[in-house]
Amino acid sequence: MHSEPLQAERPGHPGAHGLESHGPGTAPAGGACPFHNDQREARSGKQKTLVLTGASRGIGHATGKLFSDAGWRIITCSRQPFADDRCPWATGMENHVAVELADHRALPRAIDELKEKLGGGPLSALINNAAISPKSAEGERLTSLNTPVGTWMSVFHVNLLAPVMLAQGLFDELRAGQGSIVNVTSIVGSRVHPFAGSAYATSKAALTCLTREMAHDYAPYGIRVNAIAPGEIKTDILSPETEAMLAPTIPMRRIGTPEEVAKVMFFLCSDAASYVTGEEIHINGGQRV
Ligand SMILES: NC(=O)c1ccc[n+]([C@@H]2O[C@H](COP(=O)([O-])OP(=O)(O)OC[C@H]3O[C@@H](n4cnc5c(N)ncnc54)[C@H](OP(=O)(O)O)[C@@H]3O)[C@@H](O)[C@H]2O)c1
Repeated sequence: MHSEPLQAERPGHPGAHGLESHGPGTAPAGGACPFHNDQREARSGKQKTLVLTGASRGIGHATGKLFSDAGWRIITCSRQPFADDRCPWATGMENHVAVELADHRALPRAIDELKEKLGGGPLSALINNAAISPKSAEGERLTSLNTPVGTWMSVFHVNLLAPVMLAQGLFDELRAGQGSIVNVTSIVGSRVHPFAGSAYATSKAALTCLTREMAHDYAPYGIRVNAIAPGEIKTDILSPETEAMLAPTIPMRRIGTPEEVAKVMFFLCSDAASYVTGEEIHINGGQRV
């Protein structure tokens, strides 16, 4: 199906006329499961594309794997080169852009590379997952009393500014794909945490606010913007001791898995969430009850 340009025309951004739409309008009639659309679309040549930051480990890796298994093309972005053994999805090497997201001057080049890889095609989803959470040299939490100014800057560049710039830079492609943006926030954006530092926590709170602002600004163009806020999730940085200490404090008495987080992001990027925008979904085993 060929879509008309959406409602509003963005100043300085001509509409993407005539491009394939993978948006809400393409949902099959009769209530078919939208999760299965992706595989069907992939098979029929209408493959959806995801740009995913920070896919080499943890939540990002599980997310890339889930979308890839559902038939999506995954384009990744992080500092290190693509590692086949860690990210075993097809054509990962050609679909990776190495970039230091803390350096805003590097972003225009990275965005150009992403656009080149998209080749003028539509983008169905952008997931801003990469983040940094620096500790002191002794591994202690950095507080609002002792966080160096350079740390504040790099945390805010990676965790907040990069999502803004990537979304802005890929606007035309997201619009053509009637895409979905998911910002990965955190439970620490709304409460002080024993390990996460002040710069990290405030950057995540700002990202929650940014999600609301972006949802408002992007909605007229058919682009949805949501956030997911994980609680304690089992990734490489969590030691078994920390896990054992935290689990009894969680109503569900366990920490979450990256796959459980990935599934919520998949929902937000699917037709099942076609009327959901400006929301933050908490994934934390009941820690906010
Ligand atoms: N794990 C948790 O319990 C938890 C809880 C709440 C929220 N979150 C959020 O969930 C997201 C993923 O967390 P995670 O624990 O899975 O992360 P992680 O294991 O620390 O992985 C971070 C990813 O981001 C990339 N990255 C880091 N710094 C970067 C930079 N400066 N430029 C470009 N890429 C960079 C890394 O790749 P390279 O090393 O190649 O750059 C890596 O792929 C983050 O937004 C985090 O804040 C996690």
